[in-house]
Amino acid sequence: MLVLWNGQLLPRTEVQVDLEDRAYQFGDGVYEVIRVYGGQLFLLNPHLDRLVRSARAIRLDLPWSPSQLANQLRELVAANRLVDGAVYLQVSRGVAPRAHAFPRASQPVLVAYPLPASRPTEAQERGVRATFVEDIRWLRCDIKSLNLLANVLAKETAVERGAQEAILHRGETVTEGSASNVFIVQGRVLRTHPANHLILDGITRRFVLDLAAREGISTVEAPFTREDLLNADEAFFTSTTQEIVPIVEVDGHSIGVGVPGPITRKLLRAFHAAVQATIQQEV
Ligand SMILES: Cc1ncc(COP(=O)(O)O)c(C=O)c1O
Repeated sequence: MLVLWNGQLLPRTEVQVDLEDRAYQFGDGVYEVIRVYGGQLFLLNPHLDRLVRSARAIRLDLPWSPSQLANQLRELVAANRLVDGAVYLQVSRGVAPRAHAFPRASQPVLVAYPLPASRPTEAQERGVRATFVEDIRWLRCDIKSLNLLANVLAKETAVERGAQEAILHRGETVTEGSASNVFIVQGRVLRTHPANHLILDGITRRFVLDLAAREGISTVEAPFTREDLLNADEAFFTSTTQEIVPIVEVDGHSIGVGVPGPITRKLLRAFHAAVQATIQQEV
């Protein structure tokens, strides 16, 4: 495997992670996960735009422009002959003697490498179980930062309860999943939490909202409660690696009739068609 490390492509064994990299000690950095279909980086520009926004929000100056990053990531995909998978990219504030305040002189450290990823076909066809977990994260969940401990704990709770994903809630308000956004269908309306500081504005979330509009499905970005979710006709998660996954049960309560609903299935078909069109366009 070749790894992109500050502009160079190196074998994994030659990448040296420094003991005092601030990502390692403080989670002081930002990241992205970008899906690769047919050798193409899917929705690359929105991912890079979000990386720039996340970096700015933590006052980390990126020394690379989005177009330089795009070129480097395309080279990474080509060098690894990656066809169907994902790319993980992180940028830390750099290496410096351990102290909380920003170091006077440190250069950001960028690492990117391929991750395995494949369409979760069975989950998409059958739907999955989810569980409610209190959202204990900080108040800047809009930043895709390396600090993922609360997300890790929530996901582990879900796994221990035999669920695929944790649905996070602050009080009664559902925010998002531990690594995904959450949508519900009420009648003919698709609803998801607004993109504010309480959630990550998922690239897939935004893509699905656009797809829904194109498919003539009404959308509303407004908070909803746990009870709204339990009483919804349909519910699903979205994320880069999972695309759209129907939620058919939450803590033992069936959602709708307990199988993936018609609007979710329509969006899944539209999503798969959009992926296919992207692959064909680039060939
Ligand atoms: C907390 C959280 N929300 C939402 C998402 C979905 O974002 P995207 O669609 O950009 O993958 C993720 C992705 O990992 C996430 O970690």
